[in-house]
Amino acid sequence: MSAARSRLSKLAAIGFGLLAVFAPQLLAAQPPVQVRSPAGDIVVTVSDDGGRAQYKIDFRGATIIASSRLGMLFKNQHGFDEGLSIAATAIASRDEIWEQPWGERRLVRDHHNELLVTFASTSGPAPEMQVRFRVFDDGVGFRYEIPKQRRLGKVNIIDELTEFVVVNQSTAWWIPSRGWNRYEYLYQTSDIAEVSGAHTPMTLRTPSGVHLSIHEAALVDYSGMSLKQLRPGRFKADLAPWSDGVLVKTKTPFVTPWRTIQIAPDAVGLLNSDLILNLNEPNKLGDVSWVKPGKYVGIWWGMHIREYLWGTDGVHGATTQETKRYIDFAAKYGFIGVLVEGWNIGWDGDWFSNGDVFSFTKPYPDFDLRAVTEYAREKGVRLIGHNETSGNVTNYENQLEDAFAFYEALGIDKVKTGYVADGGNIKRIDENGIAKYEWHDGQFMVDHHMRVVREAAKHKISINPHEPVKDTGLRRTYPNWVAREGARGQEFNAWGDPPNPPEHTAILPFTRMLSGPMDFTPGIFDLEPNKRQPVNADMPRGDPRSRVKTTLAKQLALYVVLYSPIQMAADLPENYESNLGAFQFIVDVPADWEESIALAGEIGDFVAYARKDRNSEDWYLGALTDEQARTLSLPLSFLDPQQTYVAEIYRDGVKASWKDNPYNMIIEQRDVVRGNSLSLPLASGGGAAIRLRIKSQ
Ligand code: NOJ
Ligand code: CA
Repeated sequence: MSAARSRLSKLAAIGFGLLAVFAPQLLAAQPPVQVRSPAGDIVVTVSDDGGRAQYKIDFRGATIIASSRLGMLFKNQHGFDEGLSIAATAIASRDEIWEQPWGERRLVRDHHNELLVTFASTSGPAPEMQVRFRVFDDGVGFRYEIPKQRRLGKVNIIDELTEFVVVNQSTAWWIPSRGWNRYEYLYQTSDIAEVSGAHTPMTLRTPSGVHLSIHEAALVDYSGMSLKQLRPGRFKADLAPWSDGVLVKTKTPFVTPWRTIQIAPDAVGLLNSDLILNLNEPNKLGDVSWVKPGKYVGIWWGMHIREYLWGTDGVHGATTQETKRYIDFAAKYGFIGVLVEGWNIGWDGDWFSNGDVFSFTKPYPDFDLRAVTEYAREKGVRLIGHNETSGNVTNYENQLEDAFAFYEALGIDKVKTGYVADGGNIKRIDENGIAKYEWHDGQFMVDHHMRVVREAAKHKISINPHEPVKDTGLRRTYPNWVAREGARGQEFNAWGDPPNPPEHTAILPFTRMLSGPMDFTPGIFDLEPNKRQPVNADMPRGDPRSRVKTTLAKQLALYVVLYSPIQMAADLPENYESNLGAFQFIVDVPADWEESIALAGEIGDFVAYARKDRNSEDWYLGALTDEQARTLSLPLSFLDPQQTYVAEIYRDGVKASWKDNPYNMIIEQRDVVRGNSLSLPLASGGGAAIRLRIKSQ
């Protein structure tokens, strides 16, 4: 990286001790400074008009983020709000390619121009705030960097003043922040004026068709940012507070997460962006060949459709015998893991409210942990551990080291964690032994997840949290943080009121998935599980209105569309064995990719992806639509021009629709070459999944 440092004001270089005395005279407003994206489409302008730090963003000559405030306030100390002046700038640029151990693509290009702006304050003993901007062709990231400075050591941040002033009459896709159900809300599509508080990523389309998504990258030792609308179009950073009201507890020097704005001329452009990953630090774990992408099955959907329970106070799911049945199934069809939920003491009774009693090392008597892990080892399969905390985090942290050492000894290399508790209701016991309740996305939980991921790495364990803090690209730095939930997943189709509508998975790629991989758990074959003849007639059934509002072909498409390095085949083994034709796609589809290309899409309507297998020459294509039937014509321009491919196509039949005929599916083969386009008819709530393999001569 080349860096050139230029002092704007000769006097500012004298030193900040002097500035504190003479500042009012010395720090007159400086001319705005600018930095452009490598191709020049995006221009960021930074100014100190009126003594306030501000930035604005233009895209292709039109303003898309109007002048927006920067700064922060501290408790009992001067912060950075007024009396600020640009004292120095430094520029740099980078163009390099880095490699992901696993991911949507192996090679990622980081190409950006950087501007570091130092603002000097005239209004207090804390004189210096820096803001670092990185401008890529797919958007902008900026973060605050507060250097170590005299009389600014420990700080409690009580407000972050960052604003994002967006174009009025834009359409927004968003979920509410600070709700009891965390990130598990249906996405709303509305005029921005209707957005109350929103989680990020929040995605917008301006009246001229520019697409942008506001989010953050590298959320470490800070509170999660949601967005509050101060007045129409004027959004402001809204950090999740600690239980005592402070937003962030830190000390200088510190950097904040990157505030990000992905920008694209169309919806598909957002999907092909690597901005969030590029703003994260490189891998800190060294050799991570022990992190294994792959597909898994599990004792899971059975609980959600009430075939059995997590606890032993009813029909217990996680028995030795049932686990062995899943291990046999996994071994037979090439799955790498078997998730077992409800294996450990603590689930009996109202487990939602009894998180204090969970043991993370003691199995129920009818689950012989050593026998099943041994059985799995013989079959070449790994057990996937499950740690539901019900939000009682201190109870979990107290057991963490012992639990992970125990799992490592048993050959368990992945753990799904869970934080089922209402938003703001994460229980911790403070240093005085007093209970406190925190947000899922506050600094306490941001730090907790980091502790879990680091402790897990010591034991070569990968982590998949449910009810997590949102993803901000930390998988680059900690590649054992393989996936997470953090949106409405498949489970809502078992008992959700309402279940996920057909448009849900046509919105996720443009919102939640921009942040990173999701453990959505696709692959339900019995699309009306609540109508099925109950195996256990005495168990309460799920909500009869609940059903999976997709066609069967769309369930297959999800494996390609919703990226995750660990993909579950979520349904019961018997439902797969009774439809081996369709199941073949799940058996074939990889979970780790050499390359990914979003081919087409409009938010909430449809989306299509092509992805190339990391370990073969195969390409896979997934396309899906909302409730609207439509035909997509997809050029196969990504194929190798030298080859003929056999397209193994799983698509909706002519009579298919999620509502009336969800199982109507055609499986067919066709020879194709690079010049061809595939015309894919998608039914209402439908989809298509395709494997493209090189035709043997
Ligand atoms: C909610 C998770 O999303 C789900 O996957 C899990 O089965 C339950 N919590 C129990 O831990
Ligand atoms: Ca959940």
